[in-house]
Amino acid sequence: MGNKTFTIIKPDATRKGHTGAILAQINSAGFKIAALKMLHLSAEKAGEFYAVHRERPFYSELVEFMSSGPVVAAILEKQNAVEDFRTLIGATNPAQAAEGTIRKLYAASIGENAVHGSDSNSNALIEGDFFFNKLEQF
Ligand code: CMP
Repeated sequence: MGNKTFTIIKPDATRKGHTGAILAQINSAGFKIAALKMLHLSAEKAGEFYAVHRERPFYSELVEFMSSGPVVAAILEKQNAVEDFRTLIGATNPAQAAEGTIRKLYAASIGENAVHGSDSNSNALIEGDFFFNKLEQF
């Protein structure tokens, strides 16, 4: 048993067919999948999920992008999950992401950056509960 984090494989990555490779890389890095689903977010739901960024100049672009196609949401479990997952995915801007990280491998830009990862243990729980009810979390 470890800590939980939450991830979204974003529409750019699902569109380009990277879902399987990204999930395999997550598994290889030692994360257990505790919840998993593919869905298409409405603009309203995407806006709610990213409400913390409401005042940022990129908010409407972010909401439009996140509701532009299917995403894969997952809760992941591992010791030190939040920090280790952020290391695995790399910097928000793929131009600054380390070699071998998911964003370096699959992301095109800061807006279309392939994956989301929670930034704290408390946000991981909030974000996981946003997508999954209790019967869907293992
Ligand atoms: P994510 O980790 O999902 O959390 C918020 C997202 O906002 C972030 O990934 C980026 O995709 C997006 N974002 C952050 N900064 C910018 C920016 N300057 N322009 C467009 N999108 C951004």
